[in-house]
Amino acid sequence: MKDQVIFFDTTLRDGEQSPGASMNTAEKLRLATQLEKLGVDVLEAGFPAASPGDLEAVKIIAQKIRGLQVAGLARASKQDIDQAWEAVKEAAHPRIHTFIATSDIHLEHKLKMNREEVIRETVNAVKHAKAYTENVEFSAEDASRSDKDYLCRVLEAAIEAGATTVNIPDTVGYALPNEFGELIRYIRQHTPNIHRAVLSVHCHNDLGLATANTLAGIQAGARQAEVTVNGIGERAGNTSLEEVVMTLYTHRDHMGLSTRINTQEIYPTSRLVSMISGIVVQPNKAVVGANAFAHEAGIHQDGVLKHTLTYEIMEPMTIGLDTNRLVLGKHSGRHAFRDKLVDLGYELGEEDVDHLFRKFKMLADKRKEVLDEDIEALVAEEILRVPDTYKLDYLNVVSGTGTVPTATIKLRIDENEAQSAGFGVGPIDATFNTIAKMTGTRSKLLRFSVSSISGGMDALGEVTVRLEEDGLVVLGKGADQDIFTASAKAYINGLNRLEYLKKNPSLHPDERRL
Ligand code: KIV
Ligand code: ZN
Repeated sequence: MKDQVIFFDTTLRDGEQSPGASMNTAEKLRLATQLEKLGVDVLEAGFPAASPGDLEAVKIIAQKIRGLQVAGLARASKQDIDQAWEAVKEAAHPRIHTFIATSDIHLEHKLKMNREEVIRETVNAVKHAKAYTENVEFSAEDASRSDKDYLCRVLEAAIEAGATTVNIPDTVGYALPNEFGELIRYIRQHTPNIHRAVLSVHCHNDLGLATANTLAGIQAGARQAEVTVNGIGERAGNTSLEEVVMTLYTHRDHMGLSTRINTQEIYPTSRLVSMISGIVVQPNKAVVGANAFAHEAGIHQDGVLKHTLTYEIMEPMTIGLDTNRLVLGKHSGRHAFRDKLVDLGYELGEEDVDHLFRKFKMLADKRKEVLDEDIEALVAEEILRVPDTYKLDYLNVVSGTGTVPTATIKLRIDENEAQSAGFGVGPIDATFNTIAKMTGTRSKLLRFSVSSISGGMDALGEVTVRLEEDGLVVLGKGADQDIFTASAKAYINGLNRLEYLKKNPSLHPDERRL
């Protein structure tokens, strides 16, 4: 049997630390369901001590997602570990993941502790976690910049205290692949009890080396890889799951390593993460970018038509692109639609299904085929939303050469009708200016992005906006075949989220980041 690499997904924790990628509990649960389908072994669901909202979200995931290990992150302190346990204790397979920094830079400037104190804290933390569960992971933060021999002493103490996984983060994305691989080899040779724990790697992408470093670590003997989908994460992000999985898959004969990942779920998972986090995948992103399988040069197209292997090292089908993506059409009935929702992980009430089915029929009337991603977008827009203060009734945009871009809009504001028109430097500017005038919003537009949900000329356009008002930051999303309508919907969705938070000031911090 092949040696197996354990996949530890931290999209919901380190990934959520991406600037602006916060997700609400319903979105986290939806993503956790998909990650289970993808076949990750361990899901780091959050950092329970960070906020009551984080704790609650981890708890709900632990209760509902039964087919994998659910981990909660904790600093090396009793309070953090108690909260992590409170969050994961009902999981089918709970894990506590505790960490402390081991580099002199962090010891001196951040922790203000000496090396012996850090070893003591490590042992206390692991023992405290161990009293709750057998499954304890210890991470030596900033390991790649730590003194190697000291790092080995810390790991030895952590394993002695009961850690079953020890993780080596390249926290600031500083390492070079050969050095990082060397570090893993060194740890294996100089930590006497290392065979009693799974050795794990966790890399950041500040220099674009996260995948290379992770693979170097695996080749040197690490057997857990900590990753995020699409590589989202703190600063330049984390190692991307799809890149490591597909490298191991593509080179399986030579590397001889297996995983539990169902590669056909990679593309749908990437789409979902992009939709929920609002972080658009760059078109040239390895494996899941829109251009990853697009051949532009004539000579390449000719070659691929003759034989795909001429210019393709992976088949699109392997990552779930173009296979089983045609889901439903205009003749599909409510029963098939409902089954599809369940298949996608949505267990919704009859009223929600009825509502979505009506919207689906309208979409199917306009399009030949409705894909999974389109249904995901409908659910995100119609169901995972807060109560509406503003609703778009009518939009007419005039734009073109020699014309002042103008938008005429009818809104329902708290059930009253309002109508107005406005100008802008472009059609979307005109649309947003008019909506802003009608709603009187003081919010600032921090980000606007538009992407196509599914391929083809009749694809749905998906717009994400990020709005800020008095320190509250929200995402707004909208999808439509017409990108002006999608933009208006996204802006209005963001404004509704702001209104909701303003009317519910008691919501705890996590939910204030809707
Ligand atoms: O990058 C890092 O060091 C981390 C640890 C908490 C594992 O995310
Ligand atoms: Zn990290």
